[in-house]
Amino acid sequence: MAKGQIFGLVGPNGSGKTTTLKLLLGLVFPTSGTGEVFGYPLGSPIYKERIGFVPEGPYFYDYLNAVELLRFYGSLFGLGGARLQERIESLLKLVGMWDRRDRKVVNYSRGMLQRIGLAQALINEPDLVFMDEPTAGLDPIGAIQIREVIRRLRDDGKTVFLCSHLLKEMEPLCDSVAILNRGVVCRTGTMTELLTGEDSHYVATFRGLAEASLQQLQSLAMSVEQNEEEYTASFRDQSSAVTAAETLAGSGVELVALQPYRLSLEEVFIDAVGGMPQ
Ligand SMILES: Nc1ncnc2c1ncn2[C@@H]1O[C@H](COP(=O)(O)OP(=O)(O)OP(=O)(O)O)[C@@H](O)[C@H]1O
Ligand SMILES: [Mg+2]
Repeated sequence: MAKGQIFGLVGPNGSGKTTTLKLLLGLVFPTSGTGEVFGYPLGSPIYKERIGFVPEGPYFYDYLNAVELLRFYGSLFGLGGARLQERIESLLKLVGMWDRRDRKVVNYSRGMLQRIGLAQALINEPDLVFMDEPTAGLDPIGAIQIREVIRRLRDDGKTVFLCSHLLKEMEPLCDSVAILNRGVVCRTGTMTELLTGEDSHYVATFRGLAEASLQQLQSLAMSVEQNEEEYTASFRDQSSAVTAAETLAGSGVELVALQPYRLSLEEVFIDAVGGMPQ
């Protein structure tokens, strides 16, 4: 996993995502195999000071409020005084909990627990943050806010390791991804590598085709599909698509869009895990 990236571990329920996280955090130990975090063996206390963790469904002491809770977790890292106070304020603002800082955990909603879980994971200014299903249980605005925080962490040079099966959310968020199936990584790479696949061609959408220009397009493209008023054509590369657009422009045909063909993460995932269950 590269530094300064958002890395996504995706896989079906029970494929071992949370177990992998627990191994990396040194909460469980492998029966076989080894691993390293920051060059230290799994479970080594040395790297734990530099990581943060947001568990799946975090829970905390019921009768602490947000500030007390973060003060407690900060003290575990030896933090205190004005510096910790400032850090607590900035984290609570970051996760949208500053206005609700006096409320006790016992009265938190699912989304508030998730937000304070993230603040707790960042209290020690970790270089690497692990998150298990970080937007589970959040309303759409809450999910957007958490994704924003994740991107901001990356922009600040931190590395984020996410586990999720929300592929539509992971696709625009992650720089690279690994697909886990039954405990085995079956695909891994940058998001672009995975979504471009072997099949790297270009897709152009045209409007305003008459019968003659349609025939011309069919002769220039690998394939053409009609979607109501528009035609979507596949080309081997960008330049052949541009040449076709220039040729057709003379007959009044308009190029609406041109983009490299990309699979969705969902398509890659289903292919990788061996299709839909019967
Ligand atoms: N490599 C493994 N060896 C032995 N047991 C495993 C392994 N991977 C997962 N398990 C077991 O499978 C169960 C489910 O795994 P885990 O909770 O890691 O799945 P998950 O991918 O996080 O699923 P979900 O999407 O439901 O959160 C656990 O009880 C775990 O102990
Ligand atoms: Mg899990």
